[in-house]
Amino acid sequence: MDDPSYPVVNAHNEWDPLEEIIVGTVEGALVPPWDVILEATLHRQDLWDFHKQHGGSPWPQELLDAAQKDLDEFICILKAEGVTVRQPTPYDFSRPFATPDFESKSSCYALMPRDVLLIIGDQIIETPMGWRSRYHETHAYKDLCKEYFRAGARWVSAPRPQLSQESYVEGFVAPQEGEPMRTILTEFEPLFDAADAIKCGRDLFVAQSSCCNRFGIDWLQRHLGPEYRVHEIEVYDTHPMHIDATFYPLAPGKLLINPERIQRVPEMFGKSGWDILVCPEPMMPESRPMYNCSRWICMNVLMLDEKRVIVSKGEDRLIQALKGWGFAPIPCSFWNFSTIGGGFHCASVDVRRRGELQSYF
Ligand code: NVA
Repeated sequence: MDDPSYPVVNAHNEWDPLEEIIVGTVEGALVPPWDVILEATLHRQDLWDFHKQHGGSPWPQELLDAAQKDLDEFICILKAEGVTVRQPTPYDFSRPFATPDFESKSSCYALMPRDVLLIIGDQIIETPMGWRSRYHETHAYKDLCKEYFRAGARWVSAPRPQLSQESYVEGFVAPQEGEPMRTILTEFEPLFDAADAIKCGRDLFVAQSSCCNRFGIDWLQRHLGPEYRVHEIEVYDTHPMHIDATFYPLAPGKLLINPERIQRVPEMFGKSGWDILVCPEPMMPESRPMYNCSRWICMNVLMLDEKRVIVSKGEDRLIQALKGWGFAPIPCSFWNFSTIGGGFHCASVDVRRRGELQSYF
């Protein structure tokens, strides 16, 4: 870093000028082994059999190669825009493991750092994730965490979950479209993925999902203390997992929402004069097999600053809308990465943005 007085880890929101980012890796990625939580979080029921059959094995090479190409383009754009890109340490995800409470055929991957590390200010929080197969995923990021710690960052792990049967509702069946929302998690222990929260200075927005329970939200609020306000957002999603294709403060005064999932925007936005930007219908063909996420992944953009935004090539309606809202979209191919993973926000975690802790309300 040029300025030694500036924190090496510093991320208060989604839009301060981005200086350093961790981007996931396709290397060694496995199909997630089948587990009860997958039924609650993966929308495409027709693809569950694929997971049941291939969980714990490498993804087909052609899917990995295509995802790698997208990731290379993403990294190339980030570097060209002046961002330092870091990547996880190669890790053998294929090893089976067991705890006193559960066994897993393997781990999954280090495709999506956004889920694993919650970076708030100068603090890295390893999150208490609900997918058993992701229990050790944080190991791929330990070298980076140690390096950032040595350079001055704070680094903690949330309480390590047990993930026994008691964490999941017995006999859970995900709701059909239109049925009342429900999630698979009990309140046995605090659980959340980092991507269940989104930052907006002193205010953080979190939605309960099948990876995030109320206990997890309470833990986060108490851990962060009175400097922060953690707000629970009400969403509607039959297979809820992560907030960043649902509710996304893109810049001061500009909130992007998913019209199918957000029925009521908290009053604080209207009171503070925020514009509510409604994400247009995704353009990804419905026929594309999406193993991990829905077509609404188009919302999962990455802000390089208050204007520049990396957005998926092919999502022309969103690209036009972003231009109309005053942003400068940078299109990047990403549908192939999204097929096995997620969007730009999922595939990365911002380590340092140049800005201070502020309130935007
Ligand atoms: N679970 C969300 C993606 C979150 C990044 C979806 O499938 O739309």
